[in-house]
Amino acid sequence: MKNSERPIIVFDSGLGGISVLRKLIQVMPREKFMYFGDSANAPYGPRDPQEVCQLTVDGMAQFDALQPKALVIACNTATAAAQEALEKRYPQIPVVGIEPAVRQALQENPGGRILSLATAGTLASSRYQKQLKEVEGQGEVVSVAAPGIVKYVEGGMSDHEGIVAYLRELTAPWQTAPFQGVVLGCTHFPFAWAEVQEALGYPVRFYEPSSRIAQETRDRIVAQKTANGDTDCGSVTIQNSTNADEMLSLSWKLLTNC
Ligand code: DGL
Repeated sequence: MKNSERPIIVFDSGLGGISVLRKLIQVMPREKFMYFGDSANAPYGPRDPQEVCQLTVDGMAQFDALQPKALVIACNTATAAAQEALEKRYPQIPVVGIEPAVRQALQENPGGRILSLATAGTLASSRYQKQLKEVEGQGEVVSVAAPGIVKYVEGGMSDHEGIVAYLRELTAPWQTAPFQGVVLGCTHFPFAWAEVQEALGYPVRFYEPSSRIAQETRDRIVAQKTANGDTDCGSVTIQNSTNADEMLSLSWKLLTNC
């Protein structure tokens, strides 16, 4: 198969990974992207890591026949649970994962107070705990699971008042002093940054690594000499495990509106 026909698979538990897909398309407009959202099994956040690993490996494996040139795990929870397993299974292609941008937030706000929002699965993972150890002493990191945002995005982001009230309550214990930065440590969360801002009630800087992930993916396929050239045409295909038309149209809306 010609390299130009081989897709980059982008996987998430649902619609969140579309926040990564849009950056991937910006950086590599001539690549073919196959996005798969496993909304039928979302949320992954509260699931056992072994189960998340299996769902992620199975989700990627269904595209083996397309001979993908790279796999992007556009889900922090799935990365923590399955990146190693995927790297073992696909040693010949790049497997790019994502993790909360806590390091970057503290680098840009030395000694600052950072709110790190992610899923329970990500926060409990050894990968995240290792990152926290590395940044120890560089500032204060308040880690909070926010499954309500995943539900909000998967449900079409219709209950604006409800999500702001939820976020106000969730962050109420830390309203005594302001945060300088908020880490959006789940790929669903960039779609709700404005709601987080509204709930906090003061200006704050947001951190999420999708641009870096897109550049890393490009650098790695360039290094493998599988990147498409100037005359190749890019394309985007979106699939969802629910097979529901409404999930597909919501996916396209998220991709094109933001
Ligand atoms: N989008 C996923 C992440 O980045 C998880 C959402 C879920 O709980 O399914 O962690």
